[in-house]
Amino acid sequence: MLHTARFSSAAFSGIKNVTVIGGGQMGSGIAQVIAQKGQNVSLIDVSEEALKKSKQTITKGLKKVAKTLYKENPEEGEKFVENSLRQIQFSTDLSGAASESDLVLEAIAEDPELKRKVFASIDKVAPERTIFGTNTSSIPVRDLSVAVERKDRFTGVHFFNPVPVMQLVELVRADTVSDATYNTLFEWLKSIDRKPISCKDTPGFIVNRLLFPFLSEAIKMYERGDAELKDIDLAMKLGLKHPMGPIELADWIGHDTIVSCNAVWRDLHPGDPVFTPLKSQLKLVEEGKLGFKTGEGYHKYK
Ligand code: CAA
Ligand code: NAD
Repeated sequence: MLHTARFSSAAFSGIKNVTVIGGGQMGSGIAQVIAQKGQNVSLIDVSEEALKKSKQTITKGLKKVAKTLYKENPEEGEKFVENSLRQIQFSTDLSGAASESDLVLEAIAEDPELKRKVFASIDKVAPERTIFGTNTSSIPVRDLSVAVERKDRFTGVHFFNPVPVMQLVELVRADTVSDATYNTLFEWLKSIDRKPISCKDTPGFIVNRLLFPFLSEAIKMYERGDAELKDIDLAMKLGLKHPMGPIELADWIGHDTIVSCNAVWRDLHPGDPVFTPLKSQLKLVEEGKLGFKTGEGYHKYK
C-alpha cells in the first residue's frame, strides 16, 4: 500500500488544529491519518469506552504503517508510533476542542437530526475562522448546513473506510461553500496524503450512489435464496477481483449506517425500489449485529 510520507511536523499552513467528532470506525481512521503527518488532532466521543477502543485501533494502525515505513529501523518505527499518538488528544469535551480548532470534522452516526444538533452547538463556540466538514455518507450537505450560520465554511468531506488505506476523499461542492473554504480543504487533504475529488451535493455523491444499490442487490439475491452468502462474496472476489465480497463489504461499512443511508435516499426518491428496506438487514440491526464493528453481521468476525 502507499505511504508517501514519514512523520513530519510540517502542518499545512492554513490548518493546524483539527477536531474530529466521533471516535468510531471513521473518526479513528481520520484522526490517525492527521496525526501520522504530525498535525494536532482532538478526537471527541460521547463515550469513554469508544475513545478507549479508538486509541487501541489507532495504535494498531500506526504500528502497521511503522512496519512498512521503518522496515529496516524498528526503533525509528516505535518513535513514529509514539510521536503520532502524542499528536492526538482523546476527549469528551467537544466545546473545549472546537473553540481552539481551525477545522472540525464530524463523523458521528448517520442521523440528520443528531448531526444538525452537534453542528448547531459548535457553531456557537468555534471561532469565526473554523471550517466545518461532515463525513456523511448520504445526507445532502445543504440539509445539514441549515444548522450553522457559517454556510460558506461548511461542506461534505467524505472519507472512505478504512481511512488509513483508502486515499479517496469526495469533497463536496455544496452550493453555499466558498471557494476559499473549498480550496483550503482541497490543499489540506493533500497535506494528509489523501486524494480529494470534487463532486456535487447529490445523494450518495459518486461512490455510494453506485455502491449501495450493488450491496442491496447482493442482499436481495441472498434473501431470494438464489445463492449462499459465502458464494456471493467469493463470486465477486474471484470473478471481479474485488478485495471484499458485497456481503462482507456491507458488514464492513455497518448495517446501521446502510439502513440509515437508504432511509435518507427513500425520502429523496419516494417510490424508488432501489432503496427499499431489506428484511434480513433490518433484523441484524434490531439484534445489534451491525457488522465488523460489533463482531457479527451476516458473517462473524470474532
Ligand atoms: N492503518 C494503516 N495501514 C493499514 C491499516 C490501518 N488501519 N489497515 C491495513 N493497513 C495496511 C497494511 O499495513 C497493509 O500495508 P502493506 O501493503 O504496506 O503491507 C495494507 O494496508 C493491506 O492490509 P491487510 O493485508 O491487513 O489488509 P487486506 O489486504 O486484507 O485488505 C482491506 C483489507 C483494505 C480492508 C480490503 O479488504 C479492502 O480494500 N476492502 C474494501 C474496502 C472498501 O471498499 N471500502 C469502501 C467502503 S464504502 C465507504 O467507505 C463509503 C461509505 O460512505 C460507506
Ligand atoms: P461508528 O458507529 O463506528 O461511530 C460513530 C461514533 O460516534 C461512535 O463512537 C459514537 O459513540 C459517536 N457519537 C455518537 N454521537 C456522538 C456525539 N453527539 N458526539 C460525539 N460522538 C458521538 O460509525 P462510523 O462507521 O464511524 O460512521 C460515522 C459517519 O461516517 C457516519 O455519518 C457514516 O455514514 C460515515 N461514513 C461511514 C463509512 C463506513 O464505511 N462506516 C464510510 C464513510 C462515511
